[in-house]
Amino acid sequence: MKKVTKTAALILAMAMTVSALTACGESSATTGAADTETADDGAGTTDAAVSDEAADDAADAGSTAVTRTEGVITFGTNAEFPPFEFVAGTGVIDQYDGIDMAIAKQIAEENGMTAAVENMEFDSLIVALQNGQIDAVIAGMTVTEERLEAVDFSTPYYTATQVMIVREDSDIAAAADIADKKICVVQGYTGEVCVKDMGYPYEAFKKGTEAVMELANGRCDVVVIDSATAQKYVGDNAGLKIVEDSAAFESEEYAIAVQKGNTALLDMINKAIDAKLADGTISELGVKYTEEAAAE
Ligand code: ARG
Repeated sequence: MKKVTKTAALILAMAMTVSALTACGESSATTGAADTETADDGAGTTDAAVSDEAADDAADAGSTAVTRTEGVITFGTNAEFPPFEFVAGTGVIDQYDGIDMAIAKQIAEENGMTAAVENMEFDSLIVALQNGQIDAVIAGMTVTEERLEAVDFSTPYYTATQVMIVREDSDIAAAADIADKKICVVQGYTGEVCVKDMGYPYEAFKKGTEAVMELANGRCDVVVIDSATAQKYVGDNAGLKIVEDSAAFESEEYAIAVQKGNTALLDMINKAIDAKLADGTISELGVKYTEEAAAE
């Protein structure tokens, strides 16, 4: 029963499209906030007409203009975010497994390329992308106004929300109840942004698992983190439950990030995502990795 509900919720989440770009509280439908931004190396521009030309040029020049190594898309991730990315004995790309890893592999292969993964801290991903160390970020990364100033995002492929993980005996029933509780978040995640925006003090950890350990051990009272990852942690740790508050936490959309102005790669990614959303591939991956997590 629990599993069926979870799966239904996941399919629903994947089918939803929402235009809000802020994770919490104040809703904002502003898009394209970064008209005046240019890429760090000055090579990119967000002007649509020029971007089209750049895409044509890139196509003429072959795939070297699309990615840093010809024939390879190097995806940056932070493999600490099940069911989207985690380290497994055998993963879909090297030791990396999860919904995002499967999507990344398919995007590359459908374009006659291979997918490589660079695993790093979540906080380092955008800088690594800007520096050209990686071609794209796939990391359950939420589209936010702030990130849109630094990178371009693909079509969103998943809708999530922040939730609160608490101990089973907790009296926390809504976001307002955590004001005087000890709050744990993961550094650089939108959950941290939400709690900061609410004006509550909190402690930030490097990994979700560390924050959840603190909670399980009674050293913190609530972990604010993305919904599907929370489900996985609650399944793995006895004595925890999830509390939702959709009024306090808006829905968020995960998308793949590329360097500003890399329209050739973005077009390639968007075509693949659009097709996978339309034919149900992404929902199927969501179900597959959620059920695997539940069965562990
Ligand atoms: N969705 C949240 C964000 O964008 C958390 C993502 C964490 N992803 C990861 N691979 N560790 O901030």
